[in-house]
Amino acid sequence: MDFKRHIAANIKAGELTEDEIYSMLALPPNTEMGDFALPCFKLAKSMRKAPALIAEEIKGVYPAGDPLVAEVSAVNGYVNFKIDRAFWAKETLGEILSKRERYGASDEGKGKTVCIEYSSVNIAKPFHIGHLSSTVIGSALYKLHKFLGYPSVAINHLGDYGTQFGKLISAYKRWGKREDIEKGGLRALNALYVRFHEEAEKDESLNDEARAFFKKIEDKDEESVALFEWFKELTLKDVGKIYDMLDVHFDSWAGESFYIDKMQPVIDELREKGLLVESEGAQIVDLEAYGMPPCIILRSDGASLYATRDLAAAIYRKETYDFYKSLYVVAYQQNLHFKQFFKVLELMGKEWAKDLVHVAYGMVSLEDGSMSTRRGKVVYLEDVIQKCVEKAQSIISEKNPSLENKEEIAKTVGVGAVIFGALYNNKIKDITFSYDKVLNFEGETSCYVQYTCARANSVLAKGGAAKGYTVGEVLPQEFEVIKQLSEFPATLQDALDKYEPCFIARYAVDLAQKYNKFYFDCKILNAEEEERNFRLALTEATLITLKNALSLLGIGVPEKM
Ligand code: ARG
Repeated sequence: MDFKRHIAANIKAGELTEDEIYSMLALPPNTEMGDFALPCFKLAKSMRKAPALIAEEIKGVYPAGDPLVAEVSAVNGYVNFKIDRAFWAKETLGEILSKRERYGASDEGKGKTVCIEYSSVNIAKPFHIGHLSSTVIGSALYKLHKFLGYPSVAINHLGDYGTQFGKLISAYKRWGKREDIEKGGLRALNALYVRFHEEAEKDESLNDEARAFFKKIEDKDEESVALFEWFKELTLKDVGKIYDMLDVHFDSWAGESFYIDKMQPVIDELREKGLLVESEGAQIVDLEAYGMPPCIILRSDGASLYATRDLAAAIYRKETYDFYKSLYVVAYQQNLHFKQFFKVLELMGKEWAKDLVHVAYGMVSLEDGSMSTRRGKVVYLEDVIQKCVEKAQSIISEKNPSLENKEEIAKTVGVGAVIFGALYNNKIKDITFSYDKVLNFEGETSCYVQYTCARANSVLAKGGAAKGYTVGEVLPQEFEVIKQLSEFPATLQDALDKYEPCFIARYAVDLAQKYNKFYFDCKILNAEEEERNFRLALTEATLITLKNALSLLGIGVPEKM
């Protein structure tokens, strides 16, 4: 139950609508004053009265006998609402314990299909730490949309088109051995690619050879296509392992090459609508009036471009999925590209261009030196994950040497740390990934949350899951947990509206902190029967909610730690 919503619906304040009141309702600085507060200062102008007087009036007309509200007071221009704590506790626990792994889910997205493009790795290029954010932010948004009832389509817009594949074929034919590549996978392919660049610096003609091979792929030359398909297969096998570890899934793998035969109609339409102009031999859409450089549609040699494929892809997605929204989880370095092709679609008269969203995020670098993809100096995501798992394993062995299933647990903890590390900050911020920070059991980390879950699990194992419980007086530490628990659905909504999975990560840390305070301040297993049952129910509800939060981020919860 959304308590804030309930209060907003009952408040009468001048001409304000329920939604306006809802967004004005704030949390008072301390719970002694109340649980929600409505500031009346903004109303003074339109209502031509002093805020203190308005607060008195709003208080006066609030329905007496609302079972949810224990007290309404007007103080210094604020109307404060104190919720009946026992009522709040009963409602919240009742809802969580009956809905369980569906707690927080809704069907608000019914009938509104959302396309979410993320990860979008490049064939035969390393899956490096730079792809981490797109992958985990996108995956969390996908899970979140599904949880809130939106039919969702997860799309991996593979980078599987471009002259680099000509280079790769040339390099493979010159220096590659089939067995080495089979064995080495992506890394071996990348080594070939790096070698090509080194050699091409000495011998210009290599570039012509590469261009010729690329042309062969385009002309569907059997051998070249087969090689390319093989590179693709090797890449997908390697990235598939990472996706499995991160619990990342896709419904569509339609990459850039999928749109090759879907571009001509777009180019024709642009021409028909008078949007194409020639400039230095290239075909462009002029965007000067919008303060942007032109969007290049066809190069002077007739080759299509990244933007053209994106135009075709956007139209294809609209026609195929009839989306309500279409998201692109892509680094902010590509801000201009997205602004440009969104604008072109708008100029083409696609009214749905307004439903396209570039969900931009910042850079990830490692504390031990920033990554560089050129010259083969890359940090493979696989290695980062591996290192986290190993580190988790040594911490666990030290803390709890007799723990069973250590390896499995270390994997869940290590992978969780990688995901959480990439998710915890507002997505637009650049972050520096630190192994010590993401695996700090006392920090704002997934292992702290997982450890709290293990603690709750052990309490429940000893005390038995809550059979029945009654709610008596609710202590402040208990109430803090209850309140936090009841905010889960609104947090999910907020995370979805702002495309910020970090809200869910922070929520989980907050809840874990509040639960731990309660755990240290209040006895559970040795409490009187009534309190004991209530506290067990509170523990179970916390565990359920923490698990739901982590699972939306793709993070598992070990039973014991
Ligand atoms: N493959 C590209 C890269 O790694 C990202 C693709 C972004 N998506 C798009 N629709 N343009 O940079």
